Amino acid sequence: MRTAIAALLCLATSAAAPVEPATLRDAAAGRFLVGTAVMSAALNDPAKAALVAGQFDALTGENEFKPATLHPRPDRYAFAPADRLVDFAAGHGMRMVGHTLCWHEQTPAWFYQDAAGQPLPRAVGLAHLHDHIAAVMGHFKGRVLGWDVVNEALTDSPDPAAPDLRDSPARRCIGNDFVAQAFAAAHAADPAAELYYNDYNIEAPPKRDRALRLLRSLKAAGLRVDAVGVQGHWALARPDVPTVDAAIAAFAAAGVRVSITELDVDVVQRRGSASTTGQATTRRFDPYRDGCPPVVLAAQAARYADLFRCFVRHGRTVERVTLWGLDDGQSWLNHLHPPGPANYPLLWTARLEPKPALAAVLDALR
Ligand code: XIL
Repeated sequence: MRTAIAALLCLATSAAAPVEPATLRDAAAGRFLVGTAVMSAALNDPAKAALVAGQFDALTGENEFKPATLHPRPDRYAFAPADRLVDFAAGHGMRMVGHTLCWHEQTPAWFYQDAAGQPLPRAVGLAHLHDHIAAVMGHFKGRVLGWDVVNEALTDSPDPAAPDLRDSPARRCIGNDFVAQAFAAAHAADPAAELYYNDYNIEAPPKRDRALRLLRSLKAAGLRVDAVGVQGHWALARPDVPTVDAAIAAFAAAGVRVSITELDVDVVQRRGSASTTGQATTRRFDPYRDGCPPVVLAAQAARYADLFRCFVRHGRTVERVTLWGLDDGQSWLNHLHPPGPANYPLLWTARLEPKPALAAVLDALR
């Protein structure tokens, strides 16, 4: 018996090339979940479906859970595309993330505005928000790990004296407490679901301080917030790692965990604007339209490795790292309106070939 075991062990080690985990989910196991965001149509492609199921243990619907998709008219819910993602996740041992219940984009106007674009009475908008959250979270109860309850509520104003919340249809209709109302409704709808506040650029002051104030005020009101979602639409040099480090530590000190929810690394050096949307760039500015140079791919790999090493350092706080897309071909940065310059922000090429960034991330996780 003992010899048999010894022989087996010997076999296991000698035949073990490679011994290192070859998937993101295995490499990150015990530290945090690694996720991707896809549209349900991506699952029609067997190669993409296999990559999603093989590499990741968390899944976000890129558009399927947004109010515009789930709830196009007051009397109509459309769950089928989201259900498809939820079934896929369940069938492959992946955790599903619901993105998002309350957002100023991809939300039908009828939620908070009348036909003339004026804010509805508070009670009407509040009822729409409550009904939406109860119906959606009720439908997916037990099948979704957690929800981005509110997305992007904070202002981008650099003026520290500006109000923390951006001007938005929900805020105009309901008032400043729409965020608290959404969290209260979400907890009531599914007390077992995790609840997140999600936003971009909240690693950097002054928006980070606005996020901390918002989280503290929700907690002071007795509301449950499990984690803050730092979107992570980042670039080769921005933000620097100390900024990300400090933000994760500050959120942990405020009593919430952190997920990186929409990670991608934009390789196009933009001029004039820090916008990730590319809208400030001209159509002619398209430096990598014929492909991404190896030197840029190497810089991107180093950048991804630095970021993942930072997430590993904060392994007690960071619970999930989700990439916003599977491959460069379908990344939202390549499908903006109007299209921005060709971009290469993810870990696989449009042909699903692994990029240097994938090897760098796996290495950083070892
Ligand atoms: C994007 C999707 O990737 C696109 O397909 C869609 O056209 C627009 O929305 N922040 C968010 C995400 O919270 O929901 C956005 O997703 C990207 C920015």
